[in-house]
Amino acid sequence: MATRVATSATRRVFVQWGAAALVGLLGCGGGGTGGGEAGGGGAEAGGAATGPILVGEFGSMTGSEATFGQSTHNGIMLAVEEVNAAGGIGGRMVEVKSYDDQGKTEEAGTAVTRLITQDKVVAILGEVASSLSIAGGRVAQQYGVPMVSPSSTNPQVTQIGDKVFRVCFIDPYQGYVMAKFSRENLKYDTVAVLYDQGQAYSKGLKDDFIKSYTAMGGKIASEQAYTGGDQDFSAQLTNIRAARPQAVFVPGYYTDVGNIALQARKLGLEVPLLGGDGWDSSKLTEIGGQAIEGSYYSNHYSHEEERAEVKEFVAKYQAKHGQVPDGLAALGYDAGRLLFDAMKRAPSLSGEDLAKALSGTRDFPGVTGTISIDADRNARKPAVILEVKGGKPTYVATIQPT
Ligand code: PHE
Repeated sequence: MATRVATSATRRVFVQWGAAALVGLLGCGGGGTGGGEAGGGGAEAGGAATGPILVGEFGSMTGSEATFGQSTHNGIMLAVEEVNAAGGIGGRMVEVKSYDDQGKTEEAGTAVTRLITQDKVVAILGEVASSLSIAGGRVAQQYGVPMVSPSSTNPQVTQIGDKVFRVCFIDPYQGYVMAKFSRENLKYDTVAVLYDQGQAYSKGLKDDFIKSYTAMGGKIASEQAYTGGDQDFSAQLTNIRAARPQAVFVPGYYTDVGNIALQARKLGLEVPLLGGDGWDSSKLTEIGGQAIEGSYYSNHYSHEEERAEVKEFVAKYQAKHGQVPDGLAALGYDAGRLLFDAMKRAPSLSGEDLAKALSGTRDFPGVTGTISIDADRNARKPAVILEVKGGKPTYVATIQPT
C-alpha cells in the first residue's frame, strides 16, 4: 500500500494518513500544503483560487471494515494521479486530505466537521458504509460542501439534501436483484434472513429483499438479527436451521458474514448464503474459507467483465497494487473521476456551483457502468451477481435496471 497510517501526535479520536506522502507523490510539494498538519497556510488552499485544490476523504482504514476504506482510497488516489498528470483542474493540482473513521459512526461526523472547518476542503469523498455516510452527509449538507459517496447504497444517504450525491445504485434495486436471482435462477421458494440491526444498510437491504422476494411468491422462513462485531450467532442460526430454508440472505459486512458462514456450517446449516455488496472484500474468503463456497452476492462490478473500462482499470490497478481491484476500488476511482469532471465544468468551486455541476452529470463512462446523476442525486446502474468459487468472487451475471 502506498499510504501510511500514523496516529497523530495530539490526542485525537481519529487518525489521518498519507497526507505528506501524497504531496510528494503528486509532485506538488512546493506549495504551502506539505505535511499532515496543514495549519494556517495550507488550510486555505482548498478554497483559494490558486494553488492546490483540496478534496477531503473519510473512510474506514482500520477496524472490521478496513478493506472498505483502503480499497476506496486506492481507487481515489489513482483518479487523483491521473487528473494531476493530465494538468489538474484549470491548471491546479488536486490534493486529498484523508481521515480514518475506524468504521465508527461518531468518528465519521467528526472527520467531516474537521475536513470542512479546519482543512477547508471544497468537496468530500466518502463514506462506504451507509450509516457513516448518513452521519458525515448531515455535516456536509449543514456546511453546504458537496459530498459524493462512492458506495453507500441506503436511500437515506442522498435524501439528506441537495449537497449529497452517490455514484452507485441504491438498495431497493439491490434487494430486487437478489430476490429475482434467488427466485428465477436458483428457484428458491423459502429463504431465511439474518441481518445487522446496527447498520442502516443491512436493515434497509433486508426490508428491500423481503419486499421483492415475497412479491415474487417467495416465502421468508425466519427473520433473525445480530449486531456487527457479535462473536456468537448460534441462537439465530439454530432458529434458522429449524425453519429449514433453502438459503439464508445475510445483508451484512464481510467480517461478520465470514464468521456467520463458519458457525452456520458448524451447526450443520449447509444451505448457500446470499448477500449484497457488503460482502465485497478479499477478507470474506480469508475468514469464511470453505464455509462461504457456493454462496452468491450482488455487487457493483466484476474484474472479470469484458468491458474496455474494466480491463483498463484492472490493468492499471494491478500494476500499481499487485492485486485485483474489488468493487470499492472501482467505485472510489469512479467517484473521484466524476467529481473532477464536475469541477472542470463548474464555473467556480463554491458548494453551490459544484453541486450544480455534479447534478448535471450525464452518461459518465465509469468502470462500474455509465453514470448519470438523477433528480435524487443517485445513479441508476446495472448490478452484477458473483459466486464464491475456489475462494474467489466469480462473475455470474449482470442484471440491468428495469
Ligand atoms: N453499500 C454498502 C453500504 O451502503 C457499502 C458497500 C458498498 C460495501 C460496496 C461493499 C461494497 O453500507
